Amino acid sequence: MLTLHSIIGAMNWNDKFAQRTRHMKRSAIRELLKLAARPDMISFAGGLPAPELFPIEAVKQAIKTILRRNPQEAFQYSATEGIADLRTLIASRFSRPGLEVRRENVVIVSGAQQGLDLLGRVLLDAGDKVAVENPTYLALLSAWRPWQVRFLPVPSDDQGLRIDALEPLFEQRPKLLYLIPNFQNPQGTTLVAARRTALTGLARKHGVVLIEDDPYEELRFCGDPLPRLFELDARRTAPDLLDSHTIYVGTFSKVLMPGLRVGWIIAPEPVIEKIVQAKQAVDLHTSTLSQWIVHELVLDGTLEQQIPRLRCAYRARRDAMLAALAEYFPSEVSWTTPEGGMFLMVRLPPVLRATDVLERALRQNVAFVPGDDFHLDGEDRNSFRLNFSNPPPELIGKGVERLGHVLKAMLRAA
Ligand SMILES: Cc1ncc(COP(=O)(O)O)c(C=O)c1O
Repeated sequence: MLTLHSIIGAMNWNDKFAQRTRHMKRSAIRELLKLAARPDMISFAGGLPAPELFPIEAVKQAIKTILRRNPQEAFQYSATEGIADLRTLIASRFSRPGLEVRRENVVIVSGAQQGLDLLGRVLLDAGDKVAVENPTYLALLSAWRPWQVRFLPVPSDDQGLRIDALEPLFEQRPKLLYLIPNFQNPQGTTLVAARRTALTGLARKHGVVLIEDDPYEELRFCGDPLPRLFELDARRTAPDLLDSHTIYVGTFSKVLMPGLRVGWIIAPEPVIEKIVQAKQAVDLHTSTLSQWIVHELVLDGTLEQQIPRLRCAYRARRDAMLAALAEYFPSEVSWTTPEGGMFLMVRLPPVLRATDVLERALRQNVAFVPGDDFHLDGEDRNSFRLNFSNPPPELIGKGVERLGHVLKAMLRAA
């Protein structure tokens, strides 16, 4: 058939793209972030750390040390698994009395996002069922959708995913369950201790793999740290991870700097070996220089100083946001109270759509992310996510005040 493309001899790329690319689209959040970058905008949209808290001086020192000590090694190709010294450091940070994480249980990845992508590559086939909290991390859905899996939504409440909903869901035999147990993105909620124990027991009983994505764990403002799922799970058969059903994904993005692109996966050795095979084809290895910088920042104590500094700063920003929400938001609107992390979620009354609110808010130079995209099939129209780690404290109150005016005006007109 003659088409315009064939007449003028131009390539119709849509005929050439692989079928799976039909499940790919640009992230609405990344598009929004372009708008949010306008200088006069108060943005609660991104998931960005506070750049003014990056340990830049320590990084300069670290680079100097690396250039003096091992410059050639730092710029050379390196092992796909990651540099041995960094893997050993991570293994020792995650080992506990009675639970040994060995260097062979750790692979370094180019950010947690790559870890999630690689796990999709090695674990998922078309038609596999994958249970996820609903709503969940948008870029996880984007990473795994091209594998044509069927997502099964797990309902959650303010104590994390609901265990009573899991037994019937596991009867449908999902291959794995993905969750963010601490200060979930986008809701800011945390899975309580009793549910962690119940979840690992149920997952084992039904042979479901747990993917524990834990980028915010260290950013806890109040309350006691809760046991990691991989630890609870492995302790059932300790002393090592040989029989763990849980795969842990961590990152230095939130506690050091996301631009370094260094994260890690902790898993039983056969899983690590498969991930290494997949990673070899994707990028050979994570930046050698970035890995050495992270290694240096852990050894010289920068990481240990950063964690309390970030906790303190982000707690103040969360508190500023909670106080402003209580002052300026109409009583019909509710929100979560996170014990850590970077986000909280706002729930609107049914008469208000988050995307309509965003349109009006952008005109007042305030940005946030509507909840639709975090939900499977985008079915929730009445929620939005607010980030409190990135905006400077003095702008948080101002931005929430502007949003409050928008909401009140829209409610009056509804
Ligand atoms: C839940 C979750 N997982 C993974 C990531 C990706 O982190 P990284 O920068 O390590 O790729 C993010 C980043 O926002 C996140 O919120």
